[in-house]
Amino acid sequence: MELQSNKWMVNLLVCCFFIGVSCNSVEKKIYIHLNYTVPCVRLLNATHQIGCQSALSGDVGVLHVLESEENLDWVLRTGRNPPYLVILEYPLFTRSVMMKLKNGSSRVAGVAVVAPNTNPPEGFSPHTSCPNENTGVYTDAYDPALAHCNMTVWNPLGNGLSYEEYDFPIFSLKDDDDTRVIRQCYLDHNRAVNGSTPQYPLCAMQLYSHMSAVTDTATCMRRNDLNFSISPEMVCDPLGDYNVWASTRPFNNTVKGHKMWESVVIAAARLDSRSFFFDIAPGAESGVSGFVTLLAAAHALKNVTQEAPPNRTILYTFFQGETFDYIGSSRLVYDMQNNQFTVDLDNVHSVVEVGQVGLRADSKLWLHSDPVSRKNSSVNEEMMKLINNFQSAAAGGNVSVEEPGFSQPLPPSSFQRFLRARPIPGVVIEDHRSAFTNRFYESMYDNAEYLNISYPSNLTAEEQLEFVTDTAKALTEVATLVARALYMQAGGAESQLSSIKADPQIVTGMLYGFLVRSNNSWFQQIVPSDLMSHLADRPTNFYVGVHQQSSEPTLLVQYLLANLTGNTPNITQNDCQNQREDEKDTESKHMYTYMWVQGTAPPNSTKREGFCVRSTVRLSKALSPAFDLREFTSKEYSTWTESRWKTIKGRIFLVASHELEMLTLGVGVGILISSLLITYIVSSKADMLFSAGREPATATY
Ligand SMILES: *[C@@H]1O[C@H](CO)[C@@H](O)[C@H](O)[C@H]1NC(C)=O
Ligand SMILES: *[C@@H]1O[C@H](CO)[C@@H](O)[C@H](O)[C@H]1NC(C)=O
Ligand SMILES: *[C@@H]1O[C@H](CO)[C@@H](O)[C@H](O)[C@H]1NC(C)=O
Ligand SMILES: *[C@@H]1O[C@H](CO)[C@@H](O)[C@H](O)[C@H]1NC(C)=O
Ligand SMILES: *[C@@H]1O[C@H](CO)[C@@H](O)[C@H](O)[C@H]1NC(C)=O
Ligand SMILES: *[C@@H]1O[C@H](CO)[C@@H](O)[C@H](O)[C@H]1NC(C)=O
Ligand SMILES: *[C@@H]1O[C@H](CO)[C@@H](O)[C@H](O)[C@H]1NC(C)=O
Ligand SMILES: *[C@@H]1O[C@H](CO)[C@@H](O)[C@H](O)[C@H]1NC(C)=O
Ligand SMILES: *[C@@H]1O[C@H](CO)[C@@H](O)[C@H](O)[C@H]1NC(C)=O
Ligand SMILES: *[C@@H]1O[C@H](CO)[C@@H](O)[C@H](O)[C@H]1NC(C)=O
Ligand SMILES: *[C@@H]1O[C@H](CO)[C@@H](O)[C@H](O)[C@H]1NC(C)=O
Ligand SMILES: *[C@@H]1O[C@H](CO)[C@@H](O)[C@H](O)[C@H]1NC(C)=O
Repeated sequence: MELQSNKWMVNLLVCCFFIGVSCNSVEKKIYIHLNYTVPCVRLLNATHQIGCQSALSGDVGVLHVLESEENLDWVLRTGRNPPYLVILEYPLFTRSVMMKLKNGSSRVAGVAVVAPNTNPPEGFSPHTSCPNENTGVYTDAYDPALAHCNMTVWNPLGNGLSYEEYDFPIFSLKDDDDTRVIRQCYLDHNRAVNGSTPQYPLCAMQLYSHMSAVTDTATCMRRNDLNFSISPEMVCDPLGDYNVWASTRPFNNTVKGHKMWESVVIAAARLDSRSFFFDIAPGAESGVSGFVTLLAAAHALKNVTQEAPPNRTILYTFFQGETFDYIGSSRLVYDMQNNQFTVDLDNVHSVVEVGQVGLRADSKLWLHSDPVSRKNSSVNEEMMKLINNFQSAAAGGNVSVEEPGFSQPLPPSSFQRFLRARPIPGVVIEDHRSAFTNRFYESMYDNAEYLNISYPSNLTAEEQLEFVTDTAKALTEVATLVARALYMQAGGAESQLSSIKADPQIVTGMLYGFLVRSNNSWFQQIVPSDLMSHLADRPTNFYVGVHQQSSEPTLLVQYLLANLTGNTPNITQNDCQNQREDEKDTESKHMYTYMWVQGTAPPNSTKREGFCVRSTVRLSKALSPAFDLREFTSKEYSTWTESRWKTIKGRIFLVASHELEMLTLGVGVGILISSLLITYIVSSKADMLFSAGREPATATY
């Protein structure tokens, strides 16, 4: 530790020794803070910790740009100046290289992965090959032949890197000026020419990503409790957020639990995604394709469900935290079972889930269902009706639907958590028949580029927002199909189907807003002014994060759903914010939510004219029941927590030889001792030196 805190002085001395007078300018050159660094962080579950961390004061290593897998020998064995900080170009960010580095971690100070500017041509998925293997419906008790992805390996490209534990920091760097400087520094100082040993000073890098939590969730929750009695310093927080939901008919939301007269069709999609690195999770195919389709379908159903309401209510639900053992859906089912949600589980008629639908080949979509519950003839009968409704909805459209084959289990999906509770008829719509079409599942490459979203180069940002891409057209067709099928499933008349059409303009706007930039004129209009700071000029990050506040995607989906399914009553801002239609109204707040959004500014004004949106949109907790029940080793519910940290940063500089460092350390220690001596002398003579009284000894720091 002392060595590192003396780095600054070492460098100063080095440059003074070697370069002499021009010390200042050299000092500037050799300390470069990396501007754009994305770390891998530590997560914990009931039994394991995964992810990365550095020592408290950062990890320092001599830079080594890995040129090939064979070149690892230098890092792990032959290099003379360990530990090394390995710079990996993305083609070398493979399981085989990472496992070797992990095994040789005494010689590895850290890893920096240079992210490419365009997606790699081959697939890459750091996720597991059988996502949420232990928390879906397919346990050994349910059907041993279907458990553990025995029948279908959903994500065959998954190499599991995201679920390993590394005891060194791993950062992602953009391929830009920073990385150019790093490569140059390596070439100038560290490259071994013809097998010779490079000479000091060497170019080094230091990465800080120290994580407070260790071992597993039970351990860190215990430490949270312990710490809380002393100071409010937490070491980890449960992963979680809020689910977003709305219904085609308003429910009295103050009343929870049983509503025997209501029958509800759940239309579900998941909101979240993840990648190896902390805050790049674009989730284009894995999340966005599905929930944008469902949002567009909800919009397409707005008029018809008001004018020719079907017998059953459609409940749109957008689940958060599904990546981490189904946090959102398991919580909703738990709340439904425990009279904590407006609708009881017994009122659920069926479930229609929109999964990954953005990469449809030859215009086919697949309707996945659960072969086990279909062995029950009454469930199977309802299933046949559901499939028929989809077939009628697809008739005459450009999209056809098919079933993948009777014995195949469901892909990873929120619907599995409903089936765990009771056999409910339902389908999951996907663009794949068996294994995922998605070659970048839960990786940073599952982005707009992968969904083929591109714009003519001469368009302004505003024109891009309006431009209807081919991807948007394709998803609009899917949304129309889903909307029509939902209407039929809710008991609506077939004669109405032709009036149900999704709007490509809405779909393209949402794709742009989530995958290119949320800071656009449309999203600005439909959010309240205090959410403006959440809009950004980059793709949205769909990593679920910790439970304290709702994240950017939750907020955006909440306001979009309200805009797309709600109305605009002409009421004052004051009444709107007080959840009422007028001053005497005390009932409406049970049925609706009112949100004041900022709207647009009229042509010759700069002041926006806000308006009130009335909708049935609400949030419900997406926090794993394991934390309410304090069952931190639960096998039933998600136990994922995220460690806290203080500093995430990286920098590069030149290091002197070890001998010189020791010399500087000696000088440093000398200075320290003499300053301690002086302090001692001064404080012992303080009464004499300073006449004012001392500060009280109880001052807190
Ligand atoms: C791990 O490293 C040790 C030497 O440190 C070596 O003997 C062993 O074969 C390595 N294991 C793997 C899986 O590479
Ligand atoms: C996979 O399923 C088959 C039957 O379909 C069964 O014979 C086999 O034992 C199962 N494998 C595992 C690992 O459970
Ligand atoms: C915790 O995560 C690890 C790593 O992914 C996994 O092997 C293990 O089964 C998980 N534990 C539980 C109880 O889910
Ligand atoms: C980092 O950002 C600062 C200020 O934005 C800039 O001056 C500097 O050149 C950047 N560093 C690199 C290595 O790009
Ligand atoms: C490296 O070796 C090659 C051939 O052995 C020689 O031509 C070259 O000059 C050497 N380079 C340096 C920098 O010594
Ligand atoms: C909703 O339920 C609450 C609590 O039971 C009740 O006070 C209120 O009158 C109900 N509102 C409507 C519109 O039914
Ligand atoms: C709903 O109906 C209104 C007026 O009847 C119409 O202007 C609007 O375009 C319709 N919306 C949709 C999505 O069909
Ligand atoms: C962009 O360029 C295309 C031809 O490349 C042209 O047809 C189109 O009008 C241009 N759009 C704008 C907004 O300039
Ligand atoms: C819907 O309600 C109407 C009128 O109450 C009834 O005639 C019809 O049979 C119901 N349809 C279904 C599918 O339950
Ligand atoms: C939805 O937003 C648009 C602006 O993009 C606005 O014109 C419309 O009135 C809003 N509708 C509702 C119900 O909020
Ligand atoms: C909204 O209400 C105000 C005052 O009650 C009225 O002046 C205005 O014309 C109304 N606007 C619309 C669009 O109805
Ligand atoms: C906006 O400006 C135009 C001309 O600049 C004027 O004719 C119009 O009345 C103005 N509108 C408002 C609402 O002030």
